[in-house]
Amino acid sequence: MSNPYLPMEAEIIERIQESPGLFTLRLRLTDTAQQNSYTFKPGQFNMLYLHGVGEVAISIVSDPQELHIIDHTIRAVGRVTHGIEQLNSGDRIGLRGPYGKGWPMARAEQKDLLIITGGLGCAPVVSVIEYVARRRERFGHLNIVQGVKHSSDFIWRERYDKWRELADTQVLLAADAGEPIWPWHIGRVTELFERLRFNSQKVTVIMCGPEGMMRVVVKNMLERGVGEDDIYLSMERNMHCGIGQCGHCQYGDKFICRDGPVFSYAQVKPLFNVKGF
Ligand SMILES: Cc1cc2nc3c(=O)[nH]c(=O)nc-3n(C[C@H](O)[C@H](O)[C@H](O)COP(=O)(O)OP(=O)(O)OC[C@H]3O[C@@H](n4cnc5c(N)ncnc54)[C@H](O)[C@@H]3O)c2cc1C
Ligand code: FES
Repeated sequence: MSNPYLPMEAEIIERIQESPGLFTLRLRLTDTAQQNSYTFKPGQFNMLYLHGVGEVAISIVSDPQELHIIDHTIRAVGRVTHGIEQLNSGDRIGLRGPYGKGWPMARAEQKDLLIITGGLGCAPVVSVIEYVARRRERFGHLNIVQGVKHSSDFIWRERYDKWRELADTQVLLAADAGEPIWPWHIGRVTELFERLRFNSQKVTVIMCGPEGMMRVVVKNMLERGVGEDDIYLSMERNMHCGIGQCGHCQYGDKFICRDGPVFSYAQVKPLFNVKGF
């Protein structure tokens, strides 16, 4: 019987320092058969294993069509992520996955798309935006909205500049506080909402970030007539097994690793506004 906890081996083929404490690792599985069979959907995550230290859940940010390439953008916050931060091109790391359910890309086709992220929570939606960019004709008007605490927290400037050039696309950025040269909105990301253009009867809302922010977004979208089944969010909890076995990420009757991390609002509504969950 194969062991689901046994990681595959991946080589770091490139390491990009995005900002202090935040870096992207471009990985390739070392085994050719595993390389050929590995596929993922936007919104899924891998468990990355630093030998002798431990494992962490990290979203996949590359486009699923980029075969044999698996990108992860990681913020060094603790033991494992600080250890991974020390690795360089050519080093090896363990990888299990992909896990979880991704964003509803097929259901979102032919509709407007509203992608809202707060804080540093952009990682799970980067692969969505790349996915839509490569298949632009399949989706309606695209709104990309990102809010950060300080303008210096804003990473991926080049990507946002590139996305702004996409057809029928609106990019709105906000920082609670910013350097004098910050050309975008100063204030809460929610203050940008009145500028959004979308058909509330034909839209898919995709969001990730702090749960407080997501609650405000959900309320605003419901008030604008968006259906509970058309609002999707990515939930984050500490993870252990990643495969619905250990109960570490339990969320009511669901496991975030197995049943999420992407949920529709209709799925999480009973618990989403309850403190302590
Ligand atoms: C589905 C999923 C996808 C994720 N994707 C990414 C990603 O793309 N990039 C990324 O940098 N991180 C991501 N994370 C978070 C990442 O898993 C944690 O930052 C990591 O587990 C921290 O491990 P550590 O040993 O470095 O820190 P620890 O020593 O475990 O903790 C350091 C600090 O971080 C806090 N912390 C630990 N885990 C989490 C968590 N899951 N959420 C909030 N706070 C936490 C701890 O409470 C502590 O304050 C994701 C988490 C999940 C569940
Ligand atoms: S991490 Fe073990 S059940 Fe989700």
